Amino acid sequence: MTKIHAKFDGVGKSLPEKILTNADLEKMVDTTDEWITTRTGVKERRILSPGESINDHCVKAAKEAIEKSKCDPDEIDLIINCTFTSDYVLPSGACIIQDKLGFSRNVPAFDLAAACSGFMYGVETANSFLSTGNYRKILVIGADALSPFTNWKDRASCVLFGDGAGAAVLSGTEDPNEGVLSSDLGAAGKHNRILMVEGGGSAMHGTALMNDASLESKYYITMEGNTLFKIVTRIVADSVNRAIEKAGLTAAEIDFLVPHQANTRIIDFVAEKLGLPREKCAVTIHKYGNNSAASIPIALYDSLEEGKIKKGDKIVMTGFGGGLTYASLVVKWG
Ligand code: ACO
Repeated sequence: MTKIHAKFDGVGKSLPEKILTNADLEKMVDTTDEWITTRTGVKERRILSPGESINDHCVKAAKEAIEKSKCDPDEIDLIINCTFTSDYVLPSGACIIQDKLGFSRNVPAFDLAAACSGFMYGVETANSFLSTGNYRKILVIGADALSPFTNWKDRASCVLFGDGAGAAVLSGTEDPNEGVLSSDLGAAGKHNRILMVEGGGSAMHGTALMNDASLESKYYITMEGNTLFKIVTRIVADSVNRAIEKAGLTAAEIDFLVPHQANTRIIDFVAEKLGLPREKCAVTIHKYGNNSAASIPIALYDSLEEGKIKKGDKIVMTGFGGGLTYASLVVKWG
């Protein structure tokens, strides 16, 4: 019997209109466009305006993905919203998104937190649900609003991040010639402290900040960038290799790479390992920065719109992020 697995039916995206350029950042912290561009590849990023909701961007991206998939919204059986920066701690963004999409059924909906690997974890979760045959179509959203959690006084991190949402409708197929061919997921939990937002959870609730203003920086992202850089280059290259091997392929057979957009130097390193030139690799970091779980679906979306991914292409999607989570998928585009 052929195994049921996930295939992509439609992809959508939504980004805030507000653009923050490197020139803007030069006025905020001690940095230069030259440093940011050469060290990270970011030229500008999209950030939410006051009062703007990341959940609303999820809804817009989801609507586009549903429209592109040509399915009826009521065919969706499950919503997985991959994020760690939803509008509220409670309820989950997924339930609010379900309400705003106006589904007539109470389909299950939950948030999944795996930082920048979130969308990859979400697709693999959907893949497993679909493989049971009990679910036919699943909406997976990757979205993050990092700007509210960015310390705009910390030049080492504030130049990197942005906000945005991407979404995909996945359905089950038995066709071995399309969809998810293999996956490699992992979490190097021993590195959990190198990228974190310490405040705002149950260990350091908001009232702690009210009582002690010196804790303010704990409510922002802190990152040991250089350590992270060294660890992820090795971890990501190994994860990509394992996923390709599990798919029964070699690196030479991969047509296109959709990596997490954290740093062009990391993107170039992974592309080089696969022997892929830049034009065979999705790069959006210069215009959107690192928008965490949104970065891979948005990079996938732009590559499809630009005609860079063609039917039958074997693509690798790979992500890494706080946790330290990592995930790679090999997908045959149908
Ligand atoms: N402008 C100018 N100088 C700066 C800036 C800046 N914005 N930021 C740091 N510097 C300085 C540092 O102070 C340091 O100066 P010093 O040598 O006098 O001490 C120098 O530049 C080098 O600093 P490094 O931290 O060693 O720079 P590096 O080359 O490692 O680049 C960066 C930093 C871009 C953060 C890189 O380490 C990186 O991309 N790391 C990975 C980040 C990542 O992948 N995050 C992914 C997950 S995100 C998520 O999950 C939400």
